[in-house]
Amino acid sequence: MKIHLIAAADTARAIGRDNDLLWGPRSQQADMKRFKELTMGHPVVMGRKTWESIPKKFRPLPGRKNIVLTRDVDKFGSSSAASYSPDAQDGIWMFSDLKKLLSWLKEISDAYSSGDTEKMLETAWIYTSKDGVAGKKPMEYDFSKIFIIGGSQIYEQALKYAHQIDLTIIQHVFEDPDVHFPYFGMDNFYETSVETFPSDNRNKYPYSFHTYERQNAEEEL
Ligand SMILES: NC(=O)c1ccc[n+]([C@@H]2O[C@H](COP(=O)([O-])OP(=O)(O)OC[C@H]3O[C@@H](n4cnc5c(N)ncnc54)[C@H](OP(=O)(O)O)[C@@H]3O)[C@@H](O)[C@H]2O)c1
Repeated sequence: MKIHLIAAADTARAIGRDNDLLWGPRSQQADMKRFKELTMGHPVVMGRKTWESIPKKFRPLPGRKNIVLTRDVDKFGSSSAASYSPDAQDGIWMFSDLKKLLSWLKEISDAYSSGDTEKMLETAWIYTSKDGVAGKKPMEYDFSKIFIIGGSQIYEQALKYAHQIDLTIIQHVFEDPDVHFPYFGMDNFYETSVETFPSDNRNKYPYSFHTYERQNAEEEL
């Protein structure tokens, strides 16, 4: 299982303020498009605050298994009942331990690649067919690659497990940020691709897409 961190930061690594992004919701559309394209079909792991920062009408992020980390699963589960639907393919999963979550996702990914149906069914969702018969189906997501989508607390803790960082740099320095992407310069990541773009009518600030990869994570699961 390959673990990606995906983020957008300004040139000083700032990623947010007051539980929101630093740039307007639709001011960097190419980044939103890239985020959607890269993460589609995969599990996305986020902290409780990032979950809450996503407008209700856009969550869970469609087409991706949404997984939320919180230390108080009971409180979080009841407060987000409106969008929590455990029996549905797009219901969210809640976990209280990052390493246990990643280890379990790796087991699931291994089960999918080796065809271990019994293990695959640990992630089964229960469905009812049109004629009322209940059954179990394995998840249709691609567990061979998972994305850590923030915020700063989760990036910081997940960095040691990451194999790749998909980072958009917004070419600007925003005022008064309160959260940052962690510094990873000495962690054996190599920049393997970079594309730079000017601002335009869909992107208020110039931006660049960077891919950083490393052979082995600092801590394997
Ligand atoms: N620019 C970007 O790419 C980007 C991406 C994502 C987010 N953001 C921004 O980042 C900010 C949010 O980041 P944040 O650092 O404040 O919060 P966060 O990382 O999204 O969430 C923090 C919460 O996650 C839970 N948590 C943290 N570590 C945990 C662990 N080891 N086990 C279980 N649960 C754990 C705790 O939830 P409980 O308190 O419920 O226990 C904690 O309060 C917002 O401003 C958002 O807009 C930016």
